[in-house]
Amino acid sequence: MKPVKVGLLGLGTVGTGVVRIVEGHQEDLSSQVGSPIIIERIAVNNLNKIRNIEVDRSKLTEDPWDIIRDPDIDVIIEVMGGVEPTKAYILEALERGKHIVTANKDLMALYGSEILAKAQEKQCDVFYEASVAGGIPIIRTLIEGFSSDRIMKIMGIVNGTTNFILSKMSQEGASYEDVLLEAQQLGYAESDPTADVEGLDAARKMAILGTLGFRTNVELSDVTVRGISAVTKEDITYAKKLGYEMKLLGIADRDPEDDEFSITVQPTMVKNTHPIAAVSGVFNAVYVYGEAVGETMFYGAGAGEMPTATSIVADLVAVIKNLKLGVNGLKAIVPYKPKKLKNDET
Ligand code: HSE
Repeated sequence: MKPVKVGLLGLGTVGTGVVRIVEGHQEDLSSQVGSPIIIERIAVNNLNKIRNIEVDRSKLTEDPWDIIRDPDIDVIIEVMGGVEPTKAYILEALERGKHIVTANKDLMALYGSEILAKAQEKQCDVFYEASVAGGIPIIRTLIEGFSSDRIMKIMGIVNGTTNFILSKMSQEGASYEDVLLEAQQLGYAESDPTADVEGLDAARKMAILGTLGFRTNVELSDVTVRGISAVTKEDITYAKKLGYEMKLLGIADRDPEDDEFSITVQPTMVKNTHPIAAVSGVFNAVYVYGEAVGETMFYGAGAGEMPTATSIVADLVAVIKNLKLGVNGLKAIVPYKPKKLKNDET
């Protein structure tokens, strides 16, 4: 059985988790796909950095192009983040017929349709389950599980850092600054936590969920955003007294009559009897209401090394199964409905 060779772009928190799962679950993974899976090359920022995982140094490079141009690599896992030059790496890898697994919500929220169109043209897979809600398989659920339904509403706690902060402020009366620092130390927050606390990270994820749920091209600029930096301990205490929890909630709503949708991300007082109010810590939850299925809710870790890596390696398994079947590219779904944003004059 010829091994499948994987190139990994990035060996930070999530990249380390990917290596741990591919190595630790190798026997089970290879029996699922019918061949060994080898992480052949890894692109890192600094070859000499001390790491908390042992990797064969000969696999490391500081130049991602070494991996993109390597004809032996079948699949690229991108966990380096950022939009440029990452987008250029991914487009070139697709051009060369390599399949992509990415956790990059910024890239998929901004350039998802361009990347998926390229993937379709080249009959390659681009899977991005880890880009939204870490360990919860919500993207697969929207694409496959609900392909039969008309999704009317998606509500999500899709940023673990802000949920961690709001939960600790609510449960322990801790200060915003102390909990943010703790979230950063635990590896939940983005390198610049502004994206978390100002709601941009959640907005990117809601743009991806809206695109898949409403099967249209939701852009980041379609999402109205307000973060949690202005939320005070007093706001949270007051909300609790009234029987509410404060959550940074993404809400994507579609009008059943005319398909017009709106998407917002903002601090929201959630009645404490609603299941989403009980989601605390770094956990995420996504509530989906479908015309036929009714109410559903998905819950799990939204960030962190192993939960995020679980989604990435599951995508890797799906790509390799498609490789064996010769059906790559079929899931690169490009949204097909014209966009109808509420209050959109155009
Ligand atoms: N900073 C993100 C969060 C990481 O806190 O949810 C996972 O996307």
